[in-house]
Amino acid sequence: MKKTQIRICLGTKCYLFGAGDLVETFQNLPEEIQSRYELVTVSCFTKCESPEAKTPIIQIGEAFYYGVQPEKLLEILKKHDN
Ligand code: FES
Repeated sequence: MKKTQIRICLGTKCYLFGAGDLVETFQNLPEEIQSRYELVTVSCFTKCESPEAKTPIIQIGEAFYYGVQPEKLLEILKKHDN
């Protein structure tokens, strides 16, 4: 089965707002959930440049999510369950 990519930005503006916690949260998810995704970290999507763009920013498949807090990660991933 092809894995869906989850891309988490670890650039400064995302990191300062908790992107590191998102990576940790993902890595602590049950293996059955984690195994459906491929985690990729990026240094900046350049989407943070707009002043109203909330960080941290992540991308799952084609979709971008802004201002993602760790407790919301699982809920967002569930939208991508096939
Ligand atoms: S630092 Fe994350 S999108 Fe720019």
